[in-house]
Amino acid sequence: MAARKAAALTPSDRALLVAARAARANAHAPWSRFKVGAAALFGDTIVPGCNVEFDVYGLTNCAERTAVFAAYAHGVAAQPLLAMAVIADTAEPACPCGACRQVMFECGGPDLRVILANTNGEVRITRMHELLPDGFRLERNASRRRKT
Ligand code: THU
Repeated sequence: MAARKAAALTPSDRALLVAARAARANAHAPWSRFKVGAAALFGDTIVPGCNVEFDVYGLTNCAERTAVFAAYAHGVAAQPLLAMAVIADTAEPACPCGACRQVMFECGGPDLRVILANTNGEVRITRMHELLPDGFRLERNASRRRKT
């Protein structure tokens, strides 16, 4: 999908993107130097997230999952996840990694609205099913699990 300028965003998308941009300023990325901001809209609550890196690199948490985990911590994750915005300093609007796509899919479902942006103001609006077709759901595999 073509990237468009942030001016074309809905007020809700814009608010989410503003929150993601602000969260990016809090990123702790001493190793990659690649700062990512995210914001998740649970019901009418915006929850920010940023990437956080540690000396043991594998303990790093991506911005998108930080936002989702924070939503649980703040007790708002029971509300539907309606939209997620992600922003980074990338040539194309930022794209979530595979692990974050799975988490976003599980929380928001295939129709989750995803607003991807870069720091140049380019924006791509998409849906979860475009980023992760046929995402994993435990209940789809439940009959198989029960037999074993
Ligand atoms: N990162 C994110 O925060 N989100 C993604 O979807 C991809 C990668 C972070 C993790 C790490 O801190 C840095 O970007 C470089 O991989």
